[in-house]
Amino acid sequence: MNLAKVNAAREALPHLGLGLGLRNVHFEHILNHNPKLDWFEAISENFMDSGGRPIYVLDQIAERYPIVLHGVSMSIGSTDPLNRIYLEKLEALAKRVKAKWISDHLCWTGIMGGNSHDLLPLPLTEESLAHVIKRVRVVQDILERPLVLENPSTYFEFTHSTISEPEFLRVLSDATGCGFLLDVNNVFVSCYNGDADPYAYLEAFPLDRVVQIHLAGHEDLGTHIIDTHDRPVPQEVWDLYRKAIQVRPQASTLLEWDGNIPDFETCQEELFKAKELSALNHREEVSSSKSLSTQEGLSTPVDFLCPEVMASTEMVEPR
Ligand SMILES: [Fe+2]
Repeated sequence: MNLAKVNAAREALPHLGLGLGLRNVHFEHILNHNPKLDWFEAISENFMDSGGRPIYVLDQIAERYPIVLHGVSMSIGSTDPLNRIYLEKLEALAKRVKAKWISDHLCWTGIMGGNSHDLLPLPLTEESLAHVIKRVRVVQDILERPLVLENPSTYFEFTHSTISEPEFLRVLSDATGCGFLLDVNNVFVSCYNGDADPYAYLEAFPLDRVVQIHLAGHEDLGTHIIDTHDRPVPQEVWDLYRKAIQVRPQASTLLEWDGNIPDFETCQEELFKAKELSALNHREEVSSSKSLSTQEGLSTPVDFLCPEVMASTEMVEPR
């Protein structure tokens, strides 16, 4: 795919609204209750090699909701050759569930055929950037769509890194047209562990290429933070999220919950806090544009919306 085609395809990706990570413990609830939700994100590897119940369930959910595929094994940063069998299976799954897009992480997961089952960070250098650019182009040619890459959560930095992560990602997207999944929890975790300012990170991030945002909880151990996804989203992460959607309201939002997973309604309630922040941003925008206006007495249609309606404007009924 040439760059113009990838850029056009990325820009045409839809705004899906608010979604949840699809987890086995919620299968029955979703199938039986058709909960009010805009979309689901499925972990690609959980469904690629399965001919059994998981894919049977995913097929049914895909008939009712938009699906996005999120992978953990592409290993885009590894020096091992790209796994073409994996990529072909991924493409077949994406076609089967009509995935709106496919995402993975800026990381490597193994070397010499071994799998660490961990999302390991890259040294951010000109050499690794050129390497990842080449591999993203190959992946996009095979998948025939823009790849969406997530910023990883990190616990250390390489001393020989020469490029900041936001700059690395910006150049990567300029060269390949790929999009980004901005995980605001990962931003907070990495910046805390690396003693950096998460707002400066956000400011430098190529937010105009962000297709999706991840929200999640973490465990604060004082000296460092572990990206656990096992609890509600902390206030600091909501604050970052609010900032991110001020700049990039088009991005679709997804809540990840992977440990101590509560019932579906609790996850849904946590996710829907995002609606309140979006409405708050909207109100602030309206009042600041009013205060800039010199014409008294003029109003906009949005002034007639009650707060409840404003809070729910991002939602669509599941089909
Ligand atoms: Fe994430």
